[in-house]
Amino acid sequence: MAKEYKFPEGFWWGSATSATQIEGAASEDGKGMNVWDYWYKQVPNRFFNGVGPEVTSDFYHRYKEDIKLMKEIGHNSFRFSISWSRLIPGGVGEVNKKAVDFYNNVINELLENDIMPIATLFHFDMPIEMQHIGGFESRQVLENYKNYAKTCFELFGDRVKRWITFNEPIVPAEGGYLYNFHYPDIVDFKKAIQVCFNTVLASAMAISEFKKLEIKDGKIGIVLNLTPSYPRSNHPADLKAAEIADLLFNRSFLDPCVKGEYPDKLVELLKSYNHLPVYTEDDLELIKNNTVDYLGVNYYQPRRVKAKENMPNPYGVFTPDWFFDEYVMPGRRMNPYRGWEIYEKGIYDILINVRDNYGNIESYISENGMGVEGEERFIKDGVIQDDYRIDFIKGHLKWLHKAIEEGCNVKGYHLWSFMDNWSFLNAYKNRYGLVSVDITTQNRTIKKSGYWYKELAKNNGFSE
Ligand code: BG6
Repeated sequence: MAKEYKFPEGFWWGSATSATQIEGAASEDGKGMNVWDYWYKQVPNRFFNGVGPEVTSDFYHRYKEDIKLMKEIGHNSFRFSISWSRLIPGGVGEVNKKAVDFYNNVINELLENDIMPIATLFHFDMPIEMQHIGGFESRQVLENYKNYAKTCFELFGDRVKRWITFNEPIVPAEGGYLYNFHYPDIVDFKKAIQVCFNTVLASAMAISEFKKLEIKDGKIGIVLNLTPSYPRSNHPADLKAAEIADLLFNRSFLDPCVKGEYPDKLVELLKSYNHLPVYTEDDLELIKNNTVDYLGVNYYQPRRVKAKENMPNPYGVFTPDWFFDEYVMPGRRMNPYRGWEIYEKGIYDILINVRDNYGNIESYISENGMGVEGEERFIKDGVIQDDYRIDFIKGHLKWLHKAIEEGCNVKGYHLWSFMDNWSFLNAYKNRYGLVSVDITTQNRTIKKSGYWYKELAKNNGFSE
């Protein structure tokens, strides 16, 4: 007998994107440069196939056609990000009128199509001028981000009722200050920790502005990539390794953003290595008083760890990897087209943790998706037959359904992504869309998964 997986009434079915990854028009209509525009000019060869962020998926010019397609494949909600360097070129000062028109048009078009807009304020795209005065290491940049956020609320808050302060804020800290995949491309754990702390603070500052404006029916949240940390075994050393990974990579944002305070164990750990960030009592007070209204959860793959086999070189560069090793679990299921593990139950484990330890705060799945290299090989009758993606989504939705049945307060599911898009360093290597994009002609074609998603949204679930 087929089992029915029905979701709560009014469930959000949609997808997520970000400005740098879809808009293109990177130097049009007064847009300033962000870190990606700048870095690409410095090191184009570091980007897959040398493809940069200038054109990407041309949403800037094709948003009407794209929103029509969203409607056609059943979206009732959509997350996009506002580009700080488009709205306020240079990061501070005059607002760019053309950018205001563009975002107004996108928002109005979405609403006319009954698609709820969810706007992210920051998705990895620092204006280069702001990065060059220290990025989120700098208090001045925090102030400028706060003003940018306030400008967005004032301009668009009459129609956008769901806001996100940051997408995966740990990623620019890791990528830019530890693992060499974002600008400024340095390795300095102490700075990375300061950037993490300052981003939490910046998020709280934006929330505080949002509250002052008393936007009718408005809610503000943050999107975190909560990667469950699974230990190799129940041996105390493995458990400890997993606990530290969880503290550093999940709870360093989850706790202050949802509960308003840092876990004692994290503070003790950082203190014992003389790596506490610089902060004031007022900062902690601001964080405490400005927690999120709701949480976006991005989930792609789990983190599996084991105790360190060799003590790290005490003279080597100090990074989180001092505390654990990656554990390559025998028999783990891999995405054959992207190299990431597929572990659907991870989504359930995250939500149960949020239910039990974070007051069951309202949440939604803000990203989940399957990247595939070389998807053209699956074209038949002009359509990409991405049954693997349908299976991926179904697998995760089954666990999501179970979490909701068990009381988790989840409002929706957004796939990464609506259409194929340019990714940071990876450019167009991994394709994630429900709609494919030919990057030479910019032609859009709905994939098999897009048609399936339409049925999913129409039936508010699926049966199998
Ligand atoms: C998410 C990001 O972490 O991963 C997206 O929010 C990104 O911006 C996505 O595109 C997939 O990563 P990648 O490198 O495979 O494109």
